[in-house]
Amino acid sequence: MKTVKVGLLGIGNVGSGTYKALEMNSAAIEKSAGVHLEIVRILNRRPEAKRAVDVPKEKYTADPYEIINDPEIQIIVEVMGGVEPATTYMADALKTGKHVVTANKAALAVNGKMLQQLAMDHHVMLRFEASVGGGIPIINAVADPLVSNQYDEVLGILNGTTNYILTKMTENGADYAEVLKDAQAKGLAEADPTADVEGHDVANKLSILISLLFGKQVLPQDIPTQGITSVSGLDINYATEFGYRIKLIAHARKENGRLICSVEPTLLPLSHPMAAVSNEFNAVFVRGNAVDELMFYGKGAGPLPTGSAVLGDVIDIANCIAKGAAFDVQPLLHYDSDLEVIGEGMAQYYLRLTAVDQPGVLGNIASTFAKHDIGLKSVMQRAGINDKKTSVPLIFIIYETEYKTLMSALDEIREKNFAKSIDAVMRVQER
Ligand SMILES: NC(=O)c1ccc[n+]([C@@H]2O[C@H](COP(=O)([O-])OP(=O)(O)OC[C@H]3O[C@@H](n4cnc5c(N)ncnc54)[C@H](OP(=O)(O)O)[C@@H]3O)[C@@H](O)[C@H]2O)c1
Repeated sequence: MKTVKVGLLGIGNVGSGTYKALEMNSAAIEKSAGVHLEIVRILNRRPEAKRAVDVPKEKYTADPYEIINDPEIQIIVEVMGGVEPATTYMADALKTGKHVVTANKAALAVNGKMLQQLAMDHHVMLRFEASVGGGIPIINAVADPLVSNQYDEVLGILNGTTNYILTKMTENGADYAEVLKDAQAKGLAEADPTADVEGHDVANKLSILISLLFGKQVLPQDIPTQGITSVSGLDINYATEFGYRIKLIAHARKENGRLICSVEPTLLPLSHPMAAVSNEFNAVFVRGNAVDELMFYGKGAGPLPTGSAVLGDVIDIANCIAKGAAFDVQPLLHYDSDLEVIGEGMAQYYLRLTAVDQPGVLGNIASTFAKHDIGLKSVMQRAGINDKKTSVPLIFIIYETEYKTLMSALDEIREKNFAKSIDAVMRVQER
């Protein structure tokens, strides 16, 4: 049986999970794929540190180029994270004719185009199933069994930490800060949770999905992104009363030559399949013009689920090597669409305002919306909320409106002091 040698750059969560998944399943992999995989060298800058797997010390090196330039190694697995030096190491590995498998969404979102070109130029494969949705096979599914489709829309719950926090806030009525602490204690949130809770991690993944599904490069920093730190228990309760769940949704939709995209807390009707995706689970929902609606669901993170996706890519490549088959160097990501990227676009919205509790205030706000041609779908007014009951929360769901139009109407409401504050503006995704 042919042996294919693999080098691992990084031995953190995903590196250990990949190593362990191979240890667990190597016999089954040999039987089904007909190839013996061996992780022969591992980049470890702290060889004395305790790792989640027992690795013979001689496999470790602190020098990445001992792996990248090793002529015996045919596949490099990059699981270090961060844009640099990971991008440089991957580029150098591709240039030396090695295949690369990566889980690194940050590097791919920014440098995917350049890395793909290098892979094509050097006739080697660049694969990245684990970069979006961890263990969920979305990338290769779109490229292979779903290749006959064109896509109109994608929705993703792509971050386990934020989905866990929103789920617990919904179930227990707990505060954001309290649930974040609990998530950190359970290892479901990083000590510094910024990249997760501010939505940056999801923006990287959406950027990759946009290139994959719509053939357009939209850099993460160009995707309007809002995290979950401002989602309050009040909004979760009002949303529930209206029949919705709040989820951090990565959304992109093609519409009349425009590409609408955002990462933001979004209200989904309870009947929507994505509304039931709870705790640390992830899901990706796509609409293809042939396959229609599809939802992928599973563990979007964690050493073994992510290691499973990494290994899947490694096995695909090793299979080609073992069979002497031609390498599939067709790019998975595309960047040549002429769609105009416009950010938020047209949507229904949930709004929560605090107004002065006096006669006519609701009428003033409603007529401002009417002036901007904004239709009200639902309105809820609650009893006064401060000691003297001088402030009153008003909750609206408005019909489809351009985001810019909504902002103009809210500016006018602010300028005319019809509302003391505009406390929440969230997209509503009906289907
Ligand atoms: N965690 C998940 O569930 C998950 C899911 C999907 C995708 N991903 C992606 O997978 C990648 C790895 O994530 P992870 O959670 O495994 O991260 P991690 O636990 O922080 O592991 C990263 C590993 O790379 C090493 N490393 C980082 N920078 C290095 C450098 N400059 N030189 C040498 N070694 C370096 C770290 O070394 P030290 O241990 O010495 O710091 C560590 O061993 C990231 O791109 C992440 O976005 C992760």
